Amino acid sequence: MDTAIDDRTRMQSNQQGWNRRALAHLDSTYYDLDAFRAGKSSLRSLEKGALGDVSGKDFLHLQCHIGLNAISWARLGANVTAVDFADEALKIGRELADGLNTDITFVHANVFDLPQVLDGSFDIVYTDYGVLHLLPDLKAWAKVVAHFLRPGGVFHIAEIHPILAAVEEVDGVLRVRPERLPSGPLEDEVSATYGDGYDDVQHIESYKQYSWLWTIPEIMGALLEAGLQIRTFTEVPVDCRQRFSTMVRDEHDEGFWRLPGDPLPLSWTLSASKPE
Ligand SMILES: C[S@@+](CC[C@H](N)C(=O)[O-])C[C@H]1O[C@@H](n2cnc3c(N)ncnc32)[C@H](O)[C@@H]1O
Repeated sequence: MDTAIDDRTRMQSNQQGWNRRALAHLDSTYYDLDAFRAGKSSLRSLEKGALGDVSGKDFLHLQCHIGLNAISWARLGANVTAVDFADEALKIGRELADGLNTDITFVHANVFDLPQVLDGSFDIVYTDYGVLHLLPDLKAWAKVVAHFLRPGGVFHIAEIHPILAAVEEVDGVLRVRPERLPSGPLEDEVSATYGDGYDDVQHIESYKQYSWLWTIPEIMGALLEAGLQIRTFTEVPVDCRQRFSTMVRDEHDEGFWRLPGDPLPLSWTLSASKPE
């Protein structure tokens, strides 16, 4: 691991990688842009059920990637501002939104710099699936979330469960890793990006990805320290993609996969509010 570099440099490397992934995601089984353009929502039952009616709500989506979920929230009537630091991802999001006549404000920014870039406050701050492990400082992130919420406003997150870092698949069998991974920064040479199914990986020009393994107590602690009140927390045995070959599609929501027998929580959600 290169210890001589700082977190800004690590995030720049991630940014370059997420631009490469965004271009690969134009042709992705996970994002399925043809179905999306034809009107399919990219939202899953979990987040739709948690947020309920979003129409007329001022809605800030952090780390929106190529914008599918941001656009889906806007099609449910939310006034969406969507943020990401990968400019190629935002370009794709803008084109998709324009093609679907959906009005969204896309903001190109690192989430840590957002208070210097964006004015205003929101009824809902939202983020989902595969975001927190890319952030080097959760306390600073939680302050950004709190900064943009109106008094009485709600933060909602649906995220991949950190327990997944403790398991691996070897020859088709899931097992607990023999050693605990360090909390970070972890450095990985990444040369492929995810699809919906286990075998659907797409190769990309390789980059160094830096990540951090935040525990749920650390995440909750950061939000509480930023002044938010935690309202709900759930763990669910479903995953947003087929991460292990033995996973089967969820029978209730085709956007989810599960392990036979539901042995582990695979995702979690949390809602928190800013006091009036
Ligand atoms: C796994 S993707 C999120 C995927 C999203 N849930 C979806 O369904 O498309 C993570 C996103 O976080 C963005 N990102 C990572 N670190 C960031 C940062 N510090 N500021 C802004 N965006 C960041 C990446 O560019 C990428 O688009």
